[in-house]
Amino acid sequence: MPAKQKFYLTTPIYYTNGLPHIGHTYTTVVADVIRRYKRMRGYEVVMTTGTDEHGVNVERAAKKAGVPESEFVAKMAEAWRALWLELGIPADEFVRTTDLQHVRTVQWLFKLCRENGYVYKGHYTGQYCIYDNAFVNDAKPGDNCPDCGRPTETLTEENYFFKLSAFQKPLLDFYKKNPEFIQPESRKNEIVSFVESGLKDLSITRTTIRWGIPVPGEEPHVFYVWFDALTAYLSAVGGPDYEKRGMWPADLHLVGKDIIRFHTVYWPAFLMAAMLPIPKQVWAHGWFLMDASKMSKSKGNVVLPRPIADMLGMDALRYFLLREVVFGQDGNFSYDALLTRYNSDLANGLGNLASRTAAMIEKNFAGKIPKAGKLEPRDETLARQTQSAIGDVLDYFEKMNFARALESLWSVIATADKYLTTEKPWSLSDSEADTQRKATVLATTAELLRIVTVLAHPVLPDSTTKIWTLLGQSGSVSAVELDGLQWGQLASGVPLGKPQTLFPRVEKSEAIERIESMANEELNPTAPPAPAPTAGRSATAGAATAAAPAASEKIGIEDFAKVEMRVGQIKTAERIVGADKLLKLTVDIGTEIRQICAGIAQFYEPDSLIGRKVAVVTNLAPRKLRGVESNGMIIAASVGPEGRPVLAGFPEDVEIGARLK
Ligand code: MSP
Repeated sequence: MPAKQKFYLTTPIYYTNGLPHIGHTYTTVVADVIRRYKRMRGYEVVMTTGTDEHGVNVERAAKKAGVPESEFVAKMAEAWRALWLELGIPADEFVRTTDLQHVRTVQWLFKLCRENGYVYKGHYTGQYCIYDNAFVNDAKPGDNCPDCGRPTETLTEENYFFKLSAFQKPLLDFYKKNPEFIQPESRKNEIVSFVESGLKDLSITRTTIRWGIPVPGEEPHVFYVWFDALTAYLSAVGGPDYEKRGMWPADLHLVGKDIIRFHTVYWPAFLMAAMLPIPKQVWAHGWFLMDASKMSKSKGNVVLPRPIADMLGMDALRYFLLREVVFGQDGNFSYDALLTRYNSDLANGLGNLASRTAAMIEKNFAGKIPKAGKLEPRDETLARQTQSAIGDVLDYFEKMNFARALESLWSVIATADKYLTTEKPWSLSDSEADTQRKATVLATTAELLRIVTVLAHPVLPDSTTKIWTLLGQSGSVSAVELDGLQWGQLASGVPLGKPQTLFPRVEKSEAIERIESMANEELNPTAPPAPAPTAGRSATAGAATAAAPAASEKIGIEDFAKVEMRVGQIKTAERIVGADKLLKLTVDIGTEIRQICAGIAQFYEPDSLIGRKVAVVTNLAPRKLRGVESNGMIIAASVGPEGRPVLAGFPEDVEIGARLK
């Protein structure tokens, strides 16, 4: 038997100075979808992700946390790894840039580039963005970083330089010979014109940074983070011994559009200099935006994956991320759109089709898949449409057009719904002819469902596994070979499996409140949760309710001092449409008027609050609740078993803005 064809794909390795949000989850989910898809097409697949752990940002973050860098990154790397595992998207190789194997690989790559004459020593003075770990070309002192908008710093260093300028022509030739290398097409044009406009040599070592991979024999030089980070793709599959593992070159690097230049200019140039094989493709996707801007913790607009997965299941999030936005373009994230898709496409669409088909087979055929009788033209049309959808969906997957693949699949589901409505198997009698017809209709629907289940598996691994069991199919749906999939393979007489809960319908605004409440707890774990009547989780986002700390969890005064609390006076209060529990307040805190959302709407009339003095946590990162920015938190006691919030107040008159100590 011929050995399987290999497919090696990667996500970026993520920075360890933060934790994953929906943007990072997007890239990792797409990688997982491709991995599952390729496996179903018979490939031997390896998917790599990991953590990018060096650089001045980590140095600073570790200092702030008061721990050594190695301890800081170890904890963060573990948190990333654990979350991917929890979300069902763990990598086959999780690479950390502090791994010894990786360190060796970076040093080896540098040695090869140097031996081949592409490295020299020089001095560099320039504006440096410490957030992006990059010198900003052409920037003057005082300029902000064009990528992230934050101030740059002037740096002069003795560096080793990489002769990037020598690769202008080789790169342009390479792009021409490998027209598929940069995707999508629009990004390719951008990169080609960047390279055509001339390439400057690149400094690839630093002496101003301590926390990096040392350049052997050249201390205090450490490697520039991008020389270090990009090499992780190679170190994950063998490093200097990559030939033994047989996975290099990568078939696909998935990246966000923010880092395409590093992957399509620097990375192939480093590999060319070292005379190593170059990856086959770099695919740059767009950003998921929140309120039209990129998510960041400082803007308070990050969306976290875990609360969504907890509330709706990971399949719902995967479906939304892939269905909502055409891969390659930017898109907006909104809870509203997520819930709309969940209810319409998953609960009412796939979930409903699967459960009603199974229920009808259960009722009419003692739970065994019936054998189709003579086919009517309507049945044949449905079969033909489904068969032709197989080709379309596979073609869309190949082109990374996941949105269109899902659209095609869901139009098959819609056709099935229409077919059932027209054929009305439930209104047929028990006569022999009617029973025959019922068998044909239900066998046809079940076959359609089987095909949809197989094709949707890469995107919806959990729920399609359940539907597979429900249909009584043997083996695992992931083991079905996509290339052999065709209409007519459903065996009759097979008993259905146990009924499965697929996508229970949810009430939209209730679900959004619960997701946001969980997200707030995760982002702001210092706020003790207050119980909510339905979810059993905090519904009083924006109003912290006092709970007794566990006796073992004593904190030092320095921890308490981190929380800034002041006396504020409520100026206005109003309800938020669609959010039963929230009030939007404006609060005077002495130095400014703040907008704060508080989860007290069920217990306080807005008008009764005007003029009231309250205790406000003023140094919390801003966040959005139901799309409304909240900039602080009002303190409340949590009373009784249902956690009724009672606002903390002051029996004596106090000055607005006074600090609580
Ligand atoms: N460490 C570098 C990458 C080195 S790769 C050799 C880095 N890390 S990062 O943590 O900032 O992650 C960047 C990647 O996260 C983006 O390229 C993209 O894949 C993903 N995203 C981060 N925010 C995103 C959105 N808002 N939307 C979509 N993807 C985004 O850069």
